Amino acid sequence: MTAELHTRRNILTTGAAVAGVAVGTVALAACGSDSGTAAAPAAAPAAGATVATLADIPVGESMSAKTADGQEIVVSRPTETTAAAFSAICTHQGCTVKAAGAVLNCPCHGSEFDALTGAVKKGPATSPLPSVAVKVADGKVVTG
Ligand code: FES
Repeated sequence: MTAELHTRRNILTTGAAVAGVAVGTVALAACGSDSGTAAAPAAAPAAGATVATLADIPVGESMSAKTADGQEIVVSRPTETTAAAFSAICTHQGCTVKAAGAVLNCPCHGSEFDALTGAVKKGPATSPLPSVAVKVADGKVVTG
């Protein structure tokens, strides 16, 4: 019985610590400066994973996607045969931008980014979205 309680206490304590770390991480991710400086770029996703089908993206436009490890990205199609991808995490304060054709809109404070280059079209963000390396293979857009 004592050993069982001890084990239960350890589980509860460990669970609380893990939850605390998760909350802290979310809180830090939600924080940002008002300076408009770039957020730290996301870790590069694993290479070779399919993130989109090129034919699903009209030329000159974009779509929201996720990498195999769950990173929010935007995949665009600058030309008939090429693709580009960017982190979907706004460089202003870290909200997730939404693909809207040739423009990426941030719902939090109204920044706009060029979907084909990641460049800022309208602030308050001042830094471009970090690019994510992708290539086209057999009609699929794959990381790497
Ligand atoms: S987080 Fe402020 S404009 Fe995107």
